[in-house]
Amino acid sequence: MNATQTPAPVLPPGPKKNLLFDKDVDLRHDTIGLLVRGSREYNGISRSRLGPRYFVHITNPEFIEHVFTHGDIYVKSNENKELKFLLGNGLLTSGGSFWLKQRRLIQPLFHKQRLTGFVQKISETCDSLIAEWKASGSETKDIHEEMTRLTLGIVSKTLLSTDASADFKQVSHALEILMKGLGKRSVRLVKFPYWVPLPSHFEMRRERKILDDTVQQIIAARRADKSQYHDLLTMLMEVEDADTSERMTNEQLRDEVITIFLAGHETTANGMAFALYHIAKHPEVREKIAAEVMRVFKGGPVTFEGLMQLDYTTRVIKESMRLYPPPWIMARLVTQDDVMGEYLIKKGDEIVMSPYCVHRLESLWPEPEKFDPDRFLPENMKNMHRYAYFPFGGGARQCIGNNFAMMEMQIMLACLASQFQFSLVPGFKLEIEPLVTLRPKGGLKLAVEV
Ligand code: HEM
Repeated sequence: MNATQTPAPVLPPGPKKNLLFDKDVDLRHDTIGLLVRGSREYNGISRSRLGPRYFVHITNPEFIEHVFTHGDIYVKSNENKELKFLLGNGLLTSGGSFWLKQRRLIQPLFHKQRLTGFVQKISETCDSLIAEWKASGSETKDIHEEMTRLTLGIVSKTLLSTDASADFKQVSHALEILMKGLGKRSVRLVKFPYWVPLPSHFEMRRERKILDDTVQQIIAARRADKSQYHDLLTMLMEVEDADTSERMTNEQLRDEVITIFLAGHETTANGMAFALYHIAKHPEVREKIAAEVMRVFKGGPVTFEGLMQLDYTTRVIKESMRLYPPPWIMARLVTQDDVMGEYLIKKGDEIVMSPYCVHRLESLWPEPEKFDPDRFLPENMKNMHRYAYFPFGGGARQCIGNNFAMMEMQIMLACLASQFQFSLVPGFKLEIEPLVTLRPKGGLKLAVEV
């Protein structure tokens, strides 16, 4: 090799043993611990073997950017196929030209300006919860359950103009069972097809039918109803392909509605539950939020313009999602050999990127376990890599609902933190459960004082 030649790329470093046969590795119960330890042991990238498959775990923000911005090489992976059972060919689970067409159609619906119309619906839903909480007086509540109920109410109103009424209780129950089932399946090494007669398969197919039927009925009723609705379903029904003027079929609408319903409520509920946990641990944070809300809205209604000024409240949300990012892991399949830095990335390998791990790297985030919203002051973020923080993913497949989610969480946090005090219940210890999204295991009990 002469002096100007660059060395040939090498495979990333990693454990020698096949993890499947390593008795010190508890894949079923400690995936997140395994990833965190790996992120500390290896410098930005590692490659491990699990049975016949190879996983490349990336924590270097440069490499994460490379993966997100090379969507032609790194495609949504096998776990995504699992979600298809529930979400069909919706935005989250589809790929290729079909996904691109749908994304172009739907993207404009989520532009900031289109979202202003939802501020009122979201704050009205929060107001109903506040009234309920005030009526029940100071008590201990399962905040995760309450936030799930709240975000379910919000997505029902903004997407479908329905209340989270009887039908939707059934839908949320079905989603809960399906998400748990899919979460369990995701850590199973052998996945039997759904036609194999297992009780769990029977249950999942039954719940999926309930979901399908309910959503199809709502779409059919809306098609027959000529009234004006201001919601995402109407917008989805009205968007037209620029080239063909075609609108979405009932099947496509069903897939997108369930996708938005799911992507839009479970993530924000978990994000909010963790945010309230932090303000319970740090009462001074709640006071600062309440003071900011009073300064901006002066006791009047929440407005879109006002939300833009909630700098501190927004930093609290960002810091909370740094420590507990709802989608805690993202995966991509490598479709052709590639080179990242000095490393060879092999076709067929699976890329794993975990915001949970990256957001806790000491090299990027000093004192990573400390809750400090001021990390997100513009002057402190100046030199931060764009992909040191990625709760909403990145590149072309970045969360389409990120502006919606931030707006929703700003409203929820502003309303709740200015009306109630939150504190930890003695003896409560937060444990996390990394399913499809990261959630507090066994609920999150907080004392809520009116
Ligand atoms: C705290 C709240 C939320 C977080 C942290 C979040 C996070 C994410 C992430 C990380 C992805 C990309 C996954 C990947 O690359 O594999 C994603 C995709 C997506 N999210 Fe969100 N999300 C949130 C709320 C929402 C909301 C409110 C909606 C809709 C109303 C939504 C709709 C979607 C959709 C449709 C996709 C798929 C986009 C595509 O592949 O084209 N999300 N989300």
